[in-house]
Amino acid sequence: MTNVAIEWGRARSAGAGKTEWGRARSAGAGKTLRSDAWLTGDDEAAMAHRVALRTSGLTVGRGGRPVIGIANSVSDLNPCNLPLRALAGAVRQGIEDAGGIPAEFGTISLGEDLMKPAAMLYRNLLAIEIEEMIRSYPLDGIVILANCDKTVPGAVMGAASADIPTVVVTGGARPAAVFRGERIGAGTALWRLWDERRAGLVSDAEWRDLEACLDCGAGACNTMGTASTMALMAETLGLMIPGSSTIPSGDPAALDAAHQAGRCAVTAVTGQLSPTVVLSPAAFGNAVRVLHAAAGSTNAVIHLPAIAGRVGVPLPLDNFGRLGAGVPVLADIQPSGTGLMQDFHAAGGLPALLAELAPLLDLSPVTVTGKTLGEIITAAPPPKEGGAIRRRDEPMRTGGAFAVVRGSLAPQGAVIKVSAASPELLKHRGPAVVFHGYDDMRNRVDDPGLPVTKDSVLVLTGCGPVGVPGMPEWGMIPIPAKLAKAGVTDMVQVTDARMSGTSFGTVFLHVAPEAAIGGPLGLVRDGDLVAVDTAKGTLDLEVPADELGRRKAEWQPPPSPHVRGWPALYRDHVLQAPEGCDLDFLRAPTPAHRRFIEPVVGRS
Ligand code: FES
Repeated sequence: MTNVAIEWGRARSAGAGKTEWGRARSAGAGKTLRSDAWLTGDDEAAMAHRVALRTSGLTVGRGGRPVIGIANSVSDLNPCNLPLRALAGAVRQGIEDAGGIPAEFGTISLGEDLMKPAAMLYRNLLAIEIEEMIRSYPLDGIVILANCDKTVPGAVMGAASADIPTVVVTGGARPAAVFRGERIGAGTALWRLWDERRAGLVSDAEWRDLEACLDCGAGACNTMGTASTMALMAETLGLMIPGSSTIPSGDPAALDAAHQAGRCAVTAVTGQLSPTVVLSPAAFGNAVRVLHAAAGSTNAVIHLPAIAGRVGVPLPLDNFGRLGAGVPVLADIQPSGTGLMQDFHAAGGLPALLAELAPLLDLSPVTVTGKTLGEIITAAPPPKEGGAIRRRDEPMRTGGAFAVVRGSLAPQGAVIKVSAASPELLKHRGPAVVFHGYDDMRNRVDDPGLPVTKDSVLVLTGCGPVGVPGMPEWGMIPIPAKLAKAGVTDMVQVTDARMSGTSFGTVFLHVAPEAAIGGPLGLVRDGDLVAVDTAKGTLDLEVPADELGRRKAEWQPPPSPHVRGWPALYRDHVLQAPEGCDLDFLRAPTPAHRRFIEPVVGRS
């Protein structure tokens, strides 16, 4: 700790760490750390600031040591994040060991299971919270403790806007449940068994057994759901300790990684490795390729542009199709494969996948550790033979895991996870069966009189970012019961909703513009022909233009019950899925937007 003052003596000049997409930040006259604005000096304000931190039990001098925030999203309402409780102490110790001052604070916890209508409605609220906590408090760096789906992207978005050195620590995947004598994956098995249950293939006793076995421990979904995917994205982007994104919940190695993360946050402050330095265009390009290779969640196709939008990196939807075209899918993990995240970790985790993918990656981006991606890959072992990470010459599939389609039904695009779809349905033409919203779908999907066949196209409208609001994961429509009983397991579906990363099926998601703002999806009627050709990248509504024009002229925006509060603010400002569903006033398209305005530090 004694050499710390010398390390922190490095001036933060206006140009240091500046990139063409980054911004300059002046350290201010005589200040070497952001927190010094609060903690140095002899006036009554500086004294009050020091006293406040000491009263919290922190060892504070008169400035000169970095204060590292620990943003902890642990909550009893979010079992996916409970492992973070055990990791916070190790992070704290790591910060202290490196000479920093740890300051833990709680954040809103976005728990996918319990938060309604969807945790997605609150992702941007978490981002605002993190950004404003950083702005208003004397923090020089931050460690984000997050796990469940939206907690990682939301927190990273906020930290990226604030642009102080940021390290992410995740809580890992929960243990595997065992049902009927077999390991089953979180989410994926439940969706499948629910269709079987409605088809009469799962008894009452088995259904009760399933509920009991799903209570298998805290942690994120152990499939390649959104939480696992976003942890991989955070590590690929350079915001995590290498190899730490897939450590299972409860594994002692997580404590060591958390300790390293604490140390890393301090050294990143010294090295001025802020998000605008780490989150480069090349880093996002790598993340998109890894997303394909891992057959990650479709939700990442929304979250990555949202993060990129905070640092001024363009990441249009078409990049997801273009960059993935030559990428082999290497992760044999549910729902696209057979294994679980524990298997992925045992096979070498992300460093092994990166090593296998290296010829397709840009190795130059620097990470928050100070090492480049290339240096990390050099130290990585290859995937374990016969494990859940395939070799490049034996992929699960070629040509990437996702496809982007456009057409008269989705002028601004839609996404499909081809790796979890039925190949024979990727080109299809069938009559629409339209559900206007989630309640309508739930009320009618199992109606024996529903005019639906296996060749129908199930269309679910009104579930986009504006429509609900919050774009819930309603996109994987249950197979109508009468078809499930007949053995149908997949149908073409088209929707402006999202679906869980643990879901599967031939579902064309995130249709933009969404129905609630007048997109063509809201004009589809029962019996209209819908045609998809995934290889050609098309999704069309085969209705004559004059008829569509008549319907459009009659269309009225659906009324919203939200006239105040966060849902109303969200609905009025949320962007469409291809733009990441951020709020329009939170993005940073120009250097002026990326300039983080520091508060006036004095009496409060
Ligand atoms: Fe939280 Fe899946 S529900 S990680």
